[in-house]
Amino acid sequence: MAARAEPFAYRLWRYDGAPGELIPLLQSAQDHFGYIPRRAIKYISEVTRIPESTIYGVITFYSQFRLQPMGKHVVRVCDGTACHVSGAKMLIDTVQDELGIEVGDTTEDGLFTLFTVACLGCCSLAPVMMLNDETHGRLTAAAVRKLLRAYRRREAQQTTVPAAAGVPDSRG
Ligand code: FES
Repeated sequence: MAARAEPFAYRLWRYDGAPGELIPLLQSAQDHFGYIPRRAIKYISEVTRIPESTIYGVITFYSQFRLQPMGKHVVRVCDGTACHVSGAKMLIDTVQDELGIEVGDTTEDGLFTLFTVACLGCCSLAPVMMLNDETHGRLTAAAVRKLLRAYRRREAQQTTVPAAAGVPDSRG
């Protein structure tokens, strides 16, 4: 089993002060919680005697670590060279404005998390963004807003239609 797959509590319990142990500990906490919550930072600080401020510094230095849970839908806007010259900033600004969050954040309702990435491998479609597993290219600000609003509408419909209202399909 890979060292990283060890449960957070186990890894924390057997911490022996070895140099370089903090990163795997943080990875383990993130695997366990889906992000690194404040209470995990507190536990780690108590056990390792590394000040919380130092741990926060490490977390914010490495882009792999998250201080917030991941949203249900992940938006990845490409900011690679081709997209950068074709309007990546406009896309990022539009998504931030539409969702009311900054890059790296998750919306308060837990629906969306926004990241930027270096290249999505389809530069001829620049500017590009991915929404979950779907790639969307040659985007305009209007198209981005339309896309995000469609997702929001779909989510709103799913939460307002009671599951019991549907008649189960008994065929098959
Ligand atoms: S630079 Fe954006 S897809 Fe390659």
